[in-house]
Amino acid sequence: MNKIRLGIVGFGFMGHCDADMMATFDEIDLVAVADTNPDQLTDAPNGVETYGSMDEMLEKADINVVMISTPNPSHLEMVEKAAAAGKHIICEKPAAMSVEQFDRMVEVTEKAGVIFTVHQQRRWDKDFRIMKEVYDKRMVGDMYVIKSQLYGVNGNMHDWHVFPEMGGGMLYDWGVHLIDQILWMVDSGIDSLYADLRNVINEKVDDYFNILMKFKNGVTAEIELGTYYLTPKRAWFIGGTKGSAMIDGFAGEGKIVRTAHLLENVPGKITMTAAGPTRSFGPPEPGLLQEEPLPEVNVDHRNYFEHFLKAFNGEEEIIVLPEQVRRVLSVMEAVRMSARTGEAVRFE
Ligand SMILES: NC(=O)c1ccc[n+]([C@@H]2O[C@H](COP(=O)([O-])OP(=O)(O)OC[C@H]3O[C@@H](n4cnc5c(N)ncnc54)[C@H](O)[C@@H]3O)[C@@H](O)[C@H]2O)c1
Repeated sequence: MNKIRLGIVGFGFMGHCDADMMATFDEIDLVAVADTNPDQLTDAPNGVETYGSMDEMLEKADINVVMISTPNPSHLEMVEKAAAAGKHIICEKPAAMSVEQFDRMVEVTEKAGVIFTVHQQRRWDKDFRIMKEVYDKRMVGDMYVIKSQLYGVNGNMHDWHVFPEMGGGMLYDWGVHLIDQILWMVDSGIDSLYADLRNVINEKVDDYFNILMKFKNGVTAEIELGTYYLTPKRAWFIGGTKGSAMIDGFAGEGKIVRTAHLLENVPGKITMTAAGPTRSFGPPEPGLLQEEPLPEVNVDHRNYFEHFLKAFNGEEEIIVLPEQVRRVLSVMEAVRMSARTGEAVRFE
Protein backbone atom coordinates (compact mmCIF):
# COMPACT_ATOMS: atom_id res chain seq x y z
CA MET A 1 0.00 0.00 0.00
CA ASN A 2 1.35 3.43 -0.99
CA LYS A 3 1.72 5.81 1.89
CA ILE A 4 -0.11 9.10 2.04
CA ARG A 5 2.21 12.03 2.71
CA LEU A 6 -0.21 14.65 3.99
CA GLY A 7 -0.11 18.41 4.30
CA ILE A 8 -2.85 20.21 6.23
CA VAL A 9 -3.60 23.85 5.42
CA GLY A 10 -5.44 25.67 8.22
CA PHE A 11 -4.21 24.36 11.56
CA GLY A 12 -7.13 25.53 13.71
CA PHE A 13 -9.86 23.46 15.36
CA MET A 14 -10.41 21.02 12.51
CA GLY A 15 -6.75 20.95 11.42
CA HIS A 16 -5.81 19.79 14.93
CA CYS A 17 -8.63 17.20 15.00
CA ASP A 18 -7.46 15.83 11.65
CA ALA A 19 -3.81 15.74 12.77
CA ASP A 20 -4.84 13.68 15.82
CA MET A 21 -6.76 11.30 13.55
CA MET A 22 -3.77 10.86 11.20
CA ALA A 23 -1.60 9.84 14.14
CA THR A 24 -3.72 6.66 14.37
CA PHE A 25 -2.71 5.52 10.84
CA ASP A 26 0.60 3.81 9.98
CA GLU A 27 -0.14 4.40 6.29
CA ILE A 28 -0.56 8.18 6.62
CA ASP A 29 2.40 10.44 7.45
CA LEU A 30 1.50 13.96 8.45
CA VAL A 31 4.43 15.75 6.80
CA ALA A 32 3.47 19.42 7.06
CA VAL A 33 0.96 21.94 8.38
CA ALA A 34 0.45 25.50 7.12
CA ASP A 35 -1.32 28.40 8.79
CA THR A 36 -1.15 32.15 8.33
CA ASN A 37 -1.43 32.60 12.11
CA PRO A 38 1.93 31.57 13.63
CA ASP A 39 0.31 31.01 17.05
CA GLN A 40 -1.58 28.07 15.60
CA LEU A 41 1.64 26.32 14.59
CA THR A 42 3.30 26.31 18.02
CA ASP A 43 1.85 22.92 18.98
CA ALA A 44 2.41 21.16 15.66
CA PRO A 45 3.35 17.51 16.34
CA ASN A 46 7.07 16.70 16.65
CA GLY A 47 8.81 16.28 13.31
CA VAL A 48 6.00 17.91 11.32
CA GLU A 49 7.16 20.79 9.09
CA THR A 50 5.38 24.13 9.61
CA TYR A 51 4.72 26.79 6.98
CA GLY A 52 3.23 30.29 7.05
CA SER A 53 1.23 29.77 3.88
CA MET A 54 -0.26 27.19 1.55
CA ASP A 55 2.03 28.42 -1.27
CA GLU A 56 5.15 27.78 0.78
CA MET A 57 3.96 24.34 1.83
CA LEU A 58 3.18 23.36 -1.77
CA GLU A 59 6.58 24.58 -2.89
CA LYS A 60 8.73 22.97 -0.21
CA ALA A 61 6.99 20.02 1.42
CA ASP A 62 7.17 16.50 -0.04
CA ILE A 63 3.45 15.74 0.10
CA ASN A 64 0.96 13.94 -2.16
CA VAL A 65 -2.36 14.84 -0.45
CA VAL A 66 -3.57 18.19 0.86
CA MET A 67 -6.28 18.52 3.47
CA ILE A 68 -7.95 21.94 3.32
CA SER A 69 -9.12 23.02 6.79
CA THR A 70 -9.29 26.79 6.42
CA PRO A 71 -12.50 28.87 6.73
CA ASN A 72 -15.08 28.33 3.98
CA PRO A 73 -14.51 31.25 1.57
CA SER A 74 -10.85 30.27 1.06
CA HIS A 75 -11.58 26.71 -0.11
CA LEU A 76 -11.84 27.55 -3.83
CA GLU A 77 -8.46 29.24 -3.96
CA MET A 78 -6.88 26.39 -1.98
CA VAL A 79 -8.38 23.74 -4.27
CA GLU A 80 -7.15 25.60 -7.35
CA LYS A 81 -3.61 25.84 -5.96
CA ALA A 82 -3.43 22.24 -4.72
CA ALA A 83 -4.79 20.93 -8.06
CA ALA A 84 -2.29 23.04 -10.02
CA ALA A 85 0.45 21.47 -7.89
CA GLY A 86 -0.86 17.97 -8.74
CA LYS A 87 -1.90 17.08 -5.17
CA HIS A 88 -4.89 14.94 -4.28
CA ILE A 89 -7.39 16.88 -2.20
CA ILE A 90 -9.62 16.35 0.82
CA CYS A 91 -11.54 19.57 1.42
CA GLU A 92 -13.46 20.42 4.57
CA LYS A 93 -17.19 20.88 4.33
CA PRO A 94 -18.85 22.96 3.07
CA ALA A 95 -16.54 22.48 0.10
CA ALA A 96 -17.76 25.70 -1.48
CA MET A 97 -19.93 28.72 -0.77
CA SER A 98 -22.06 28.02 -3.87
CA VAL A 99 -22.73 25.47 -6.60
CA GLU A 100 -20.99 27.80 -9.05
CA GLN A 101 -17.78 27.78 -6.97
CA PHE A 102 -17.99 24.03 -6.61
CA ASP A 103 -18.30 23.53 -10.37
CA ARG A 104 -15.05 25.45 -10.77
CA MET A 105 -13.41 23.13 -8.22
CA VAL A 106 -14.55 20.05 -10.13
CA GLU A 107 -13.30 21.54 -13.38
CA VAL A 108 -9.77 22.24 -12.07
CA THR A 109 -9.40 18.94 -10.23
CA GLU A 110 -10.64 16.90 -13.21
CA LYS A 111 -8.24 18.76 -15.47
CA ALA A 112 -5.38 18.07 -13.06
CA GLY A 113 -6.39 14.41 -12.75
CA VAL A 114 -6.31 14.46 -8.94
CA ILE A 115 -8.70 12.90 -6.43
CA PHE A 116 -11.10 15.52 -5.07
CA THR A 117 -13.33 14.64 -2.14
CA VAL A 118 -14.93 16.32 0.85
CA HIS A 119 -14.70 15.48 4.54
CA GLN A 120 -18.27 14.26 5.14
CA GLN A 121 -17.21 11.99 7.99
CA ARG A 122 -20.68 12.15 9.57
CA ARG A 123 -21.73 9.45 7.11
CA TRP A 124 -20.04 7.25 9.73
CA ASP A 125 -22.05 8.58 12.71
CA LYS A 126 -23.51 5.64 14.62
CA ASP A 127 -27.03 7.09 15.02
CA PHE A 128 -27.23 7.85 11.30
CA ARG A 129 -25.90 4.44 10.22
CA ILE A 130 -28.47 2.62 12.36
CA MET A 131 -31.25 4.58 10.67
CA LYS A 132 -29.70 3.98 7.25
CA GLU A 133 -29.79 0.25 8.01
CA VAL A 134 -33.49 0.53 8.98
CA TYR A 135 -34.07 2.37 5.69
CA ASP A 136 -31.96 0.08 3.46
CA LYS A 137 -33.55 -3.11 4.83
CA ARG A 138 -37.09 -1.61 4.82
CA MET A 139 -37.37 -2.71 8.46
CA VAL A 140 -40.54 -0.68 9.11
CA GLY A 141 -42.23 -1.43 5.78
CA ASP A 142 -43.12 1.31 3.31
CA MET A 143 -41.80 4.52 4.80
CA TYR A 144 -43.57 7.85 4.71
CA VAL A 145 -41.48 10.07 7.01
CA ILE A 146 -37.90 10.45 8.25
CA LYS A 147 -37.08 13.05 10.89
CA SER A 148 -33.56 14.15 11.76
CA GLN A 149 -33.40 16.59 14.68
CA LEU A 150 -30.52 18.36 16.37
CA TYR A 151 -31.14 20.84 19.19
CA GLY A 152 -28.69 22.69 21.42
CA VAL A 153 -28.40 25.26 24.15
CA ASN A 154 -25.31 27.25 23.14
CA GLY A 155 -27.13 29.55 20.70
CA ASN A 156 -24.27 31.94 20.07
CA MET A 157 -22.08 31.30 17.06
CA HIS A 158 -18.34 31.80 17.58
CA ASP A 159 -15.30 33.22 15.77
CA TRP A 160 -15.76 33.61 11.99
CA HIS A 161 -19.03 31.65 12.14
CA VAL A 162 -20.86 34.91 13.03
CA PHE A 163 -20.07 36.46 9.64
CA PRO A 164 -22.21 35.61 6.58
CA GLU A 165 -19.39 36.50 4.19
CA MET A 166 -17.18 33.91 5.94
CA GLY A 167 -19.74 31.18 5.38
CA GLY A 168 -21.04 31.42 8.94
CA GLY A 169 -24.36 30.09 10.23
CA MET A 170 -25.67 26.65 10.95
CA LEU A 171 -26.78 25.73 7.42
CA TYR A 172 -23.15 25.93 6.23
CA ASP A 173 -22.02 24.23 9.43
CA TRP A 174 -24.11 21.25 10.63
CA GLY A 175 -26.65 21.69 7.84
CA VAL A 176 -24.17 20.30 5.32
CA HIS A 177 -23.78 17.09 7.33
CA LEU A 178 -27.49 16.62 8.07
CA ILE A 179 -28.50 17.16 4.43
CA ASP A 180 -25.68 14.92 3.19
CA GLN A 181 -26.87 12.11 5.50
CA ILE A 182 -30.46 12.27 4.21
CA LEU A 183 -29.45 12.46 0.54
CA TRP A 184 -27.06 9.50 0.97
CA MET A 185 -29.81 7.50 2.71
CA VAL A 186 -32.88 8.15 0.55
CA ASP A 187 -32.37 6.56 -2.86
CA SER A 188 -34.71 8.83 -4.78
CA GLY A 189 -34.96 12.19 -6.53
CA ILE A 190 -36.40 15.17 -4.66
CA ASP A 191 -39.73 16.42 -5.91
CA SER A 192 -39.98 19.60 -3.86
CA LEU A 193 -38.48 21.34 -0.89
CA TYR A 194 -39.82 23.82 1.65
CA ALA A 195 -37.68 25.46 4.30
CA ASP A 196 -37.60 27.95 7.14
CA LEU A 197 -34.24 29.52 8.00
CA ARG A 198 -33.95 31.97 10.88
CA ASN A 199 -31.60 34.11 12.91
CA VAL A 200 -33.15 33.46 16.33
CA ILE A 201 -30.57 35.03 18.62
CA ASN A 202 -27.76 35.66 16.12
CA GLU A 203 -27.92 38.97 14.33
CA LYS A 204 -26.41 38.08 10.99
CA VAL A 205 -26.37 34.32 10.51
CA ASP A 206 -28.89 31.52 10.74
CA ASP A 207 -29.08 29.47 13.94
CA TYR A 208 -32.35 27.60 13.25
CA PHE A 209 -33.67 25.77 10.22
CA ASN A 210 -36.44 23.38 9.32
CA ILE A 211 -36.25 21.69 5.92
CA LEU A 212 -38.97 19.50 4.39
CA MET A 213 -37.96 17.43 1.38
CA LYS A 214 -40.57 15.43 -0.51
CA PHE A 215 -38.85 12.62 -2.36
CA LYS A 216 -40.26 11.03 -5.51
CA ASN A 217 -40.43 7.62 -3.78
CA GLY A 218 -43.08 8.88 -1.34
CA VAL A 219 -40.79 9.58 1.63
CA THR A 220 -40.83 13.03 3.23
CA ALA A 221 -37.69 13.94 5.15
CA GLU A 222 -37.68 16.68 7.75
CA ILE A 223 -34.42 18.09 9.10
CA GLU A 224 -34.74 20.49 12.02
CA LEU A 225 -31.86 22.16 13.84
CA GLY A 226 -31.92 24.78 16.57
CA THR A 227 -28.92 26.04 18.52
CA TYR A 228 -31.14 27.87 21.02
CA TYR A 229 -33.75 25.19 21.58
CA LEU A 230 -32.79 24.81 25.26
CA THR A 231 -33.41 21.11 25.21
CA PRO A 232 -30.26 19.40 23.95
CA LYS A 233 -31.17 16.52 21.71
CA ARG A 234 -30.10 14.44 18.71
CA ALA A 235 -33.07 12.41 17.55
CA TRP A 236 -34.29 10.34 14.61
CA PHE A 237 -37.67 8.96 13.66
CA ILE A 238 -38.67 6.79 10.72
CA GLY A 239 -42.37 6.00 10.27
CA GLY A 240 -43.51 3.14 8.05
CA THR A 241 -46.50 0.87 7.41
CA LYS A 242 -44.99 -1.86 9.61
CA GLY A 243 -43.70 0.14 12.53
CA SER A 244 -41.75 3.14 13.77
CA ALA A 245 -38.02 3.38 14.44
CA MET A 246 -36.64 5.99 16.82
CA ILE A 247 -33.30 7.09 18.20
CA ASP A 248 -32.43 9.44 21.03
CA GLY A 249 -28.77 10.49 21.13
CA PHE A 250 -25.58 10.23 19.08
CA ALA A 251 -24.87 6.86 20.71
CA GLY A 252 -27.83 5.48 18.77
CA GLU A 253 -30.05 4.36 21.65
CA GLY A 254 -33.60 3.68 20.62
CA LYS A 255 -36.05 1.04 19.43
CA ILE A 256 -38.37 -0.20 16.77
CA VAL A 257 -42.03 -0.28 17.83
CA ARG A 258 -44.64 -2.37 16.03
CA THR A 259 -48.28 -3.23 16.69
CA ALA A 260 -49.17 -6.84 17.56
CA HIS A 261 -51.69 -6.82 14.73
CA LEU A 262 -52.46 -4.48 11.87
CA LEU A 263 -55.14 -1.97 12.78
CA GLU A 264 -57.37 -2.46 9.78
CA ASN A 265 -60.64 -2.36 11.72
CA VAL A 266 -60.24 0.01 14.63
CA PRO A 267 -63.27 -0.38 16.87
CA GLY A 268 -64.92 2.92 17.56
CA LYS A 269 -64.26 2.67 21.27
CA ILE A 270 -64.51 5.96 23.13
CA THR A 271 -61.92 6.57 25.83
CA MET A 272 -61.79 9.49 28.23
CA THR A 273 -58.37 11.15 28.29
CA ALA A 274 -56.97 14.47 29.46
CA ALA A 275 -57.83 15.70 25.97
CA GLY A 276 -61.47 14.69 26.42
CA PRO A 277 -63.25 11.72 24.81
CA THR A 278 -61.31 10.25 21.89
CA ARG A 279 -61.38 7.23 19.58
CA SER A 280 -58.11 7.75 17.69
CA PHE A 281 -55.73 8.89 20.43
CA GLY A 282 -56.62 6.79 23.45
CA PRO A 283 -53.97 4.69 25.23
CA PRO A 284 -52.95 1.42 23.49
CA GLU A 285 -54.68 -1.78 24.60
CA PRO A 286 -52.36 -4.00 26.69
CA GLY A 287 -49.91 -5.93 24.49
CA LEU A 288 -50.63 -3.88 21.37
CA LEU A 289 -47.23 -2.19 21.17
CA GLN A 290 -44.22 -4.46 20.80
CA GLU A 291 -40.64 -3.26 21.01
CA GLU A 292 -37.62 -4.60 19.14
CA PRO A 293 -33.98 -3.57 19.29
CA LEU A 294 -32.49 -1.46 16.53
CA PRO A 295 -29.93 -3.09 14.24
CA GLU A 296 -26.31 -3.10 15.42
CA VAL A 297 -23.73 -1.11 13.49
CA ASN A 298 -20.05 -0.72 14.07
CA VAL A 299 -18.73 2.53 12.60
CA ASP A 300 -16.62 5.53 13.50
CA HIS A 301 -15.11 8.57 11.79
CA ARG A 302 -11.81 6.76 11.23
CA ASN A 303 -13.66 4.74 8.56
CA TYR A 304 -13.72 7.86 6.34
CA PHE A 305 -9.92 7.88 6.11
CA GLU A 306 -9.73 4.08 5.78
CA HIS A 307 -11.86 4.41 2.65
CA PHE A 308 -9.82 7.35 1.41
CA LEU A 309 -6.62 5.32 1.78
CA LYS A 310 -8.10 2.53 -0.34
CA ALA A 311 -9.25 5.01 -3.00
CA PHE A 312 -5.81 6.64 -2.96
CA ASN A 313 -4.34 3.20 -3.67
CA GLY A 314 -6.87 2.49 -6.45
CA GLU A 315 -8.54 -0.32 -4.47
CA GLU A 316 -12.01 1.25 -4.35
CA GLU A 317 -14.02 4.24 -5.52
CA ILE A 318 -14.16 7.42 -3.46
CA ILE A 319 -17.27 7.32 -1.27
CA VAL A 320 -17.97 11.06 -1.01
CA LEU A 321 -18.35 11.84 -4.71
CA PRO A 322 -18.25 15.36 -6.21
CA GLU A 323 -21.75 14.93 -7.71
CA GLN A 324 -23.13 14.11 -4.25
CA VAL A 325 -21.44 17.17 -2.74
CA ARG A 326 -22.87 19.28 -5.57
CA ARG A 327 -26.37 17.96 -4.82
CA VAL A 328 -26.06 18.94 -1.14
CA LEU A 329 -25.00 22.46 -2.17
CA SER A 330 -27.96 22.64 -4.60
CA VAL A 331 -30.32 21.68 -1.78
CA MET A 332 -28.78 24.41 0.39
CA GLU A 333 -29.38 26.98 -2.34
CA ALA A 334 -33.00 25.79 -2.63
CA VAL A 335 -33.34 26.06 1.17
CA ARG A 336 -32.25 29.70 1.04
CA MET A 337 -34.60 30.41 -1.85
CA SER A 338 -37.59 28.77 -0.16
CA ALA A 339 -36.88 30.61 3.12
CA ARG A 340 -36.61 33.90 1.23
CA THR A 341 -39.78 33.51 -0.85
CA GLY A 342 -41.87 31.50 1.61
CA GLU A 343 -42.65 29.07 -1.21
CA ALA A 344 -41.83 25.46 -1.96
CA VAL A 345 -39.15 24.91 -4.59
CA ARG A 346 -39.67 22.28 -7.32
CA PHE A 347 -36.43 20.47 -7.30
CA GLU A 348 -35.26 17.56 -9.44
N1 LIG B 1 -15.99 17.97 9.05
C1 LIG B 1 -16.40 18.53 10.17
O1 LIG B 1 -17.12 17.94 10.97
C2 LIG B 1 -15.98 19.94 10.50
C3 LIG B 1 -16.04 20.40 11.84
C4 LIG B 1 -15.61 21.71 12.10
C5 LIG B 1 -15.17 22.53 11.07
N2 LIG B 1 -15.16 22.04 9.77
C6 LIG B 1 -14.71 22.89 8.67
O2 LIG B 1 -13.31 23.07 8.77
C7 LIG B 1 -12.94 24.36 8.26
C8 LIG B 1 -12.17 25.10 9.32
O3 LIG B 1 -13.00 25.31 10.44
P1 LIG B 1 -12.40 25.46 11.92
O4 LIG B 1 -13.55 25.41 12.83
O5 LIG B 1 -11.27 24.49 12.13
O6 LIG B 1 -11.83 26.95 11.84
P2 LIG B 1 -10.67 27.58 12.71
O7 LIG B 1 -10.87 29.04 12.65
O8 LIG B 1 -10.58 26.93 14.05
O9 LIG B 1 -9.34 27.20 11.90
C9 LIG B 1 -9.04 27.72 10.63
C10 LIG B 1 -7.55 27.96 10.55
O10 LIG B 1 -7.22 28.39 9.22
C11 LIG B 1 -6.23 29.41 9.31
N3 LIG B 1 -6.28 30.18 8.08
C12 LIG B 1 -7.19 31.11 7.70
N4 LIG B 1 -6.92 31.55 6.45
C13 LIG B 1 -5.81 30.88 6.04
C14 LIG B 1 -5.04 30.91 4.85
N5 LIG B 1 -5.38 31.70 3.82
N6 LIG B 1 -3.96 30.11 4.76
C15 LIG B 1 -3.61 29.29 5.80
N7 LIG B 1 -4.31 29.23 6.96
C16 LIG B 1 -5.38 30.03 7.08
C17 LIG B 1 -6.60 30.20 10.56
O11 LIG B 1 -5.51 30.92 11.07
C18 LIG B 1 -7.05 29.07 11.49
O12 LIG B 1 -5.98 28.57 12.28
C19 LIG B 1 -14.27 25.02 7.86
O13 LIG B 1 -14.50 24.84 6.50
C20 LIG B 1 -15.29 24.28 8.68
O14 LIG B 1 -16.60 24.30 8.12
C21 LIG B 1 -15.54 20.77 9.50
